Amino acid sequence: MEIIILKDAEKVAATGAELVAELLRVSPAAVLGLATGSTQLALYRKLVESCRAGAISFKRATAFNLDEYLGVTPDNPQSYRAYMRRELFDHVDIDPGRTFLPECGAGQNPVLVGPDYEKKIAAAGGIDLQVLGIGVNGHIGFNEPSSSLNSRTRVKTLTRQTVEDNSRLFSAEEFQPRLAVTMGIATIMDARRILMLATGANKADAVARMAEGPVTAMCPASILQMHERVTVLLDEAAASGLENRDYYDWTHQQNESLKARFGRSHDV
Ligand code: GLP
Repeated sequence: MEIIILKDAEKVAATGAELVAELLRVSPAAVLGLATGSTQLALYRKLVESCRAGAISFKRATAFNLDEYLGVTPDNPQSYRAYMRRELFDHVDIDPGRTFLPECGAGQNPVLVGPDYEKKIAAAGGIDLQVLGIGVNGHIGFNEPSSSLNSRTRVKTLTRQTVEDNSRLFSAEEFQPRLAVTMGIATIMDARRILMLATGANKADAVARMAEGPVTAMCPASILQMHERVTVLLDEAAASGLENRDYYDWTHQQNESLKARFGRSHDV
């Protein structure tokens, strides 16, 4: 795991956006795995700016989102489809026909959405770069604690804590879903590269458990320790629970000098 601790959330977004931009420049037809949540907002703003400035293009790219609520239609402003359109898709040159979420249409059996989504990801050649956030309880996508570490895309029940954490985004009279369809942990682990962004002190404990705790289904993000190529971008607050901090900074320095000399870092 490459852990990079940056000054603030702004720098986390800029560094994350640079990584996505690099991939799109090298592989314009890249398959991106995308995430929702407040952490990703600044990342998408940067990508929109770059695209508008002509520095990157999504024209040939494909996007698969991690998850979608069950029981909200794509046109509902609370849906993750609406979030993605508002924050990214409607402002960049991506082909809307190549943007996918594990959506469940009216009358469709939600149990069938997962296997179908898996087929679509496989048909696109798999995910090149999966962007992730982390829940306060260590979830990735909506893989809540105790999710199978070998799970694939399927229906999940959100924990009471996740419902509570996300309740700030719903008004009192709005329907707040308690179910979602989410990529599984094994689906996420199949991505060729993973980029995790976490900011704010409320993520410090989850980040420490992810990076330095045991690999356990009780902290789904801890499975990332088993992935070959993960980059974790943190602000100071989200990094504040890490014990091995000095080593991450030291490694980052070495990686930067290796990158300057050879164009690629070594140490993940
Ligand atoms: C949400 C999403 C995750 C997201 C996480 C953190 O519930 N399903 O994909 O990474 O929780 O969200 P935020 O960035 O708003 O803290």
